[in-house]
Amino acid sequence: MSSVSSPAWQVRLEADQDAPFVEALNAESFGPGRFAKSAYRLREGVDPVAGLSFVAVENGVLRGSVRFWPVTVGGHEELLLGPLAVETGQRGRGIGIALMQAGIAAAKEGPWRGILLVGDEPYYARVGFARLPPGRVKFPGPVDQNRILGLSLKSGEMLALSGQVRRARIDRPHCAAGAPIS
Ligand SMILES: CC(C)(COP(=O)(O)OP(=O)(O)OC[C@H]1O[C@@H](n2cnc3c(N)ncnc32)[C@H](O)[C@@H]1OP(=O)(O)O)[C@@H](O)C(=O)NCCC(=O)NCCS
Repeated sequence: MSSVSSPAWQVRLEADQDAPFVEALNAESFGPGRFAKSAYRLREGVDPVAGLSFVAVENGVLRGSVRFWPVTVGGHEELLLGPLAVETGQRGRGIGIALMQAGIAAAKEGPWRGILLVGDEPYYARVGFARLPPGRVKFPGPVDQNRILGLSLKSGEMLALSGQVRRARIDRPHCAAGAPIS
C-alpha cells in the first residue's frame, strides 16, 4: 500500500503576532537594500492588503511569508506581489509556491484584475506569471523590464494592465516619502 506524506508545514493567514517574525525573515532574505528598490517605493506608508498575507508555519516556527500590496496601474487598483521569502535553510520544499498559490487563490475572490511583480520569470511562471511587453507598465524608478511579470486574476482573460504604477493610497501619512499616489 502506498502512502503520500503531507508536508510538515502549513500555510495560513498571517496573524498580528506574526508581524515581527515576517519582518525578521524579510530582513534576513533581502537585507537593507530592500528599502532602495522601486517596489519598496510603492509600499512605503501603505499597509499590505488585508486577507492576502500568508505565512508557512512548521511546529510553530515561521518558515515563509508572502504579502501583497495595493497599487494603481493606469488608475485601476491592482496588486503587487511581494515580498515573498522562505527561511534560508527551508528552501526547495515547495513553501514559496504554496504561499503564492494561497495568495493568488484569495486574490481571485477580490475585485482586482491582475497581479504585478518584479522577479525571475522562470520561478514565477510556475504559478502562471508571464513577462509583460516592455513599456506596458512603468514603475516609479529603475526596474529591469525583463523582470516585470503579470498574472490575470480573471480566468480566460488576458492581463490588461497598462500605464504608470503608483501607490494606491497612504495609510501612514508620516511616511510621506515613496512613489506618488494616483
Ligand atoms: C525565491 C524563494 C521565495 C523560493 O522559495 P522556495 O520555498 O525555495 O521555493 P519552492 O520550494 O516553492 O520552489 C523551489 C524551486 O524553484 C526554483 N527556484 C527558486 N528560485 C528561483 C529563481 N529565482 N529562478 C528560477 N527558479 C527558482 C528552485 O530551483 C526549485 O526548483 P526545483 O523544484 O526544480 O528543485 C526563496 O528562495 C527565497 O526566499 N529567496 C530569497 C528572497 C527572494 O529572492 N524572494 C523573491 C523576490 S523576487
